[in-house]
Amino acid sequence: MPTVDPADFTRAMAHVPAPVTIVTTVDPSGRRWGFTASSFSSLSLDPTLVLVCPAKSASCHEAFVTADRFLVNVLAAGQAGVAAGFARSGTDKFAGSSMEPCELGLPGLPDATARLACALHDVLDGGDHSILVGRVQQVSVGGADPLVYYNRLFTRPAGSPALAAPA
Ligand SMILES: Cc1cc2nc3c(=O)[nH]c(=O)nc-3n(C[C@H](O)[C@H](O)[C@H](O)COP(=O)(O)O)c2cc1C
Repeated sequence: MPTVDPADFTRAMAHVPAPVTIVTTVDPSGRRWGFTASSFSSLSLDPTLVLVCPAKSASCHEAFVTADRFLVNVLAAGQAGVAAGFARSGTDKFAGSSMEPCELGLPGLPDATARLACALHDVLDGGDHSILVGRVQQVSVGGADPLVYYNRLFTRPAGSPALAAPA
């Protein structure tokens, strides 16, 4: 089986525009956990499932794989600063953030462009990441332009007109 150089893999994946989310949960002791994640995707309509993938090396990994629920904050274009903050390990990510209790009582950003509150449905193995499958229980839609991660930079969707598919 051929293998690819990880640097080539990440160079290729840099060309895949990705959403920017902050996923949060609260552990049984009441401690809040959160991390910036681009590995967020819709998975199923019936039932309504999404997935997001925390690294097994992340300090929040244990809290998420044992959580009963989590909240996905889909960031708006103006929220690159908070995305960078929640990607910084070893800091109090919640200090100075505008997180407040939202759906299911979980920490959320009032100005997120969407929030999806999930019950943990399954945890699957994904190499050096785990795959959290969430059953969506509540949504909130703000509707601002989303923040996008592309070519290793935060950006926003280009404002050009939608393209028609060729006939
Ligand atoms: C744009 C962006 C997307 C990221 N996506 C993911 C992701 O999908 N999964 C992940 O484990 N880490 C991702 N990270 C890195 C984590 O946010 C970072 O390692 C996290 O803060 C580690 O959690 P910890 O502080 O609990 O160790 C991303 C970072 C950035 C800047």
